[in-house]
Amino acid sequence: MPAKTEVPGQLREWPAWQEYGLKDRSAEAEYLDAKRAVIEEYGQEKLTKGWIRVCEQLAKITEEIIQQGNEIIPVCSAETLQKGFSSEEEARIKKTGCVIVRGVIPEEEARKQYNEVHKYIHDNMDTIRAWPEDSPYMYELYDSPMQNAIRSHENHLKIHRLMNELWHDKSGETTPDPLIFYDGVRDRPPKQTFLGLGPHIDAGSLSRWASPDYRIVYDSIFSGNPEKHDAWNLDIRKDAAQDFFKAPPHSAVFRSFQGWTALTPSRAREGCILLYPNIQASIAYMVLRPFFNPPKDEADIMDATKWTFADSGCEFPGTDKEQSQYLSRSSHPHLRLRECLMHVPDIQPGDTVWWHTDLCHAVDTEHEGVNNSSVVFIPAAPSTARNKAYVKRQLADVLAGRQPSDFQGTVNEKLLKGYKGHEGFSEEARKAFGYYL
Ligand SMILES: [Fe+2]
Repeated sequence: MPAKTEVPGQLREWPAWQEYGLKDRSAEAEYLDAKRAVIEEYGQEKLTKGWIRVCEQLAKITEEIIQQGNEIIPVCSAETLQKGFSSEEEARIKKTGCVIVRGVIPEEEARKQYNEVHKYIHDNMDTIRAWPEDSPYMYELYDSPMQNAIRSHENHLKIHRLMNELWHDKSGETTPDPLIFYDGVRDRPPKQTFLGLGPHIDAGSLSRWASPDYRIVYDSIFSGNPEKHDAWNLDIRKDAAQDFFKAPPHSAVFRSFQGWTALTPSRAREGCILLYPNIQASIAYMVLRPFFNPPKDEADIMDATKWTFADSGCEFPGTDKEQSQYLSRSSHPHLRLRECLMHVPDIQPGDTVWWHTDLCHAVDTEHEGVNNSSVVFIPAAPSTARNKAYVKRQLADVLAGRQPSDFQGTVNEKLLKGYKGHEGFSEEARKAFGYYL
């Protein structure tokens, strides 16, 4: 019997995920220019003030997370679809950057959809592509009847809108009207290990520092006031160039929340997802980290005042401009990832898991269950100019039998056995899929 963890949701053993650290990027102009630009704009004093403050904040936040375990992650019932989030729920979501909303798709319907997509994959196995190569289970399938049924479901569109409404934009240039971003399907068999998705943050990596339109999102943090960072400001965020460096992991689409809709039950150590349940301080720490070098003495590592301002050299731990932003225990010690990265509570078919676009997350390396663990990736995306442009193109692509440009697949899904397209869509669904853009 495995030892019982004392903190609900905490990892029993830390997987062999990669550690990040010393990798001098001084010879690479994009990294050096990004670092210099931030130092030139904000200066050592403000950056250092921000660093000390965020480490102080994290000392308290990490204790709170460890005390509560995954119970810190807000869990809402399907009643949310009628009532919206209560002010208490909203406050908790804004603090943790994540939420589980149960029963968005009625359980029986989610189970039925799972059986159908399982068959659909089986029937088209020779054509559909999937990864990882040695044991494929992430299917490059975007326009299947199951995905479209769930995305266009009135409950799903309702929750999608509620997630978008958690952001604010005083410019009036955007709306929380949902836009559908086509993503793939996961059907992970038991006993399959997968180390590929350790702690990381999507929506770009080096672009957060290199792009002037993106780094302004973190202006309060670089200015020495991480506690003033507003992680929900769409006014600024809507123009951030997440794909400043073009690479497959960097979507052009701004997702207010990334989302999983479960098709099967899922639980800790059964191919589930892990979240770092804090948004403001964790992202502030991550964006300030490249400006400081750790103390030589390992015993001083948690003392932020012993870290030195990195005015020479150029390290961006866990940052590779062509990958998502990765984090690790040794490179980002104040996050206390070992203790604070939490499995989400058990989820049932039809439940949804949502996490903020800047939230650190990871995928279970193990699946000790006995059944396949399947989710469909459906994020929330508000109506911004960039998102509308992409969704318009996405619709033209899929109607012409091309896979969405973000994924660069080459399969004509219209030719798959059992393909249905967009038949039976409501007006609201047609709007979300981009028919009126
Ligand atoms: Fe991710």
